[in-house]
Amino acid sequence: MRVGIIGAGTMGAGIAQVFAQTEGYEVFLCDINEELADKGKQKIAASLAKRVAKGKMTQEEADTILGRIRTGTNKICDSVNLIVEGSPEKLAIKKQVFGELQEIVPKDCIFATNTSSLSITEIGNGLDRPVIGMHFFNPAPVMKLIEVIKASNTPDDIYEKVIEISKNIGKTPVTVNESAGFVVNRLLIPMINEAVEIYALGVASVEEIDTAMKLGANHPMGPLELGDTIGLDVCLEIMNVLYTETGDPKYRPSVLLKNMVRSGKLGRKTGIGFYDYRK
Ligand code: 3HC
Repeated sequence: MRVGIIGAGTMGAGIAQVFAQTEGYEVFLCDINEELADKGKQKIAASLAKRVAKGKMTQEEADTILGRIRTGTNKICDSVNLIVEGSPEKLAIKKQVFGELQEIVPKDCIFATNTSSLSITEIGNGLDRPVIGMHFFNPAPVMKLIEVIKASNTPDDIYEKVIEISKNIGKTPVTVNESAGFVVNRLLIPMINEAVEIYALGVASVEEIDTAMKLGANHPMGPLELGDTIGLDVCLEIMNVLYTETGDPKYRPSVLLKNMVRSGKLGRKTGIGFYDYRK
């Protein structure tokens, strides 16, 4: 099967790695220019090199995986059977990307989006085929879940095919009907928002909040460290979607979260968030 991955950032590269690690998949990793797409492949090469260094994979296996990945712009997707779109979390961008892709890919190519909270039905609105949600989690090569999100017009055969593909690449799919934030982000991101609020109120320090949730709830990462990893801008985007879609004040974004995003403190990707990564 040939899979086009749109967006070669952290998630796109991680998703590309997941597919390429499975025999029978050819991956077309795309971005707005070849340089960015190549950078995505370099991230995968670095991730595989770590596995080789740990003795979890041979160099030959790593080379085989990398050999299954071609990079370029969306134009290279002219023979793919599945698109997994991971472009920036803006409805207009996603609609534009799929609009361009429908002129490039074969007529029976499945359109899937890795959106973290936008309406799948709305993304597909106006296209020549429906869109389905295939929501991966960061880091994609490690996290076992895929939320398979049915839009209001997802045909059963496409849904079943995506469930089959998800299992085939070693993930566990969970079926979700379209709603803001789906399941995981509707639970996880308000928890991070609440941790930000607790910190803003001076209830506990950043480290204490994270330690409390790691040791008291057995979370692998504390909520503030996780917010830094996901990207505080992404967390804010998701809170905004939950808030505007439901109108429920319980989803109101924390003022501190807004201020951190405004000041460019987005977490790991900018070198500073609740923690300082520049050292
Ligand atoms: N890429 C590939 N592999 C990675 C990785 C990465 N970025 N980060 C860690 N790993 C691998 C390590 O190599 C290691 O592999 P091994 O067991 O084969 O040696 C394994 O994962 C465990 O890593 P570590 O021992 O270094 O560290 P931890 O045990 O602390 O695990 C973690 C790291 C898996 C990231 C863990 O801290 C974790 O599960 N954190 C929570 C992640 C989470 O909640 N993700 C969801 C975010 S929400 C989301 O993505 C949705 C979006 O829409 C916002």
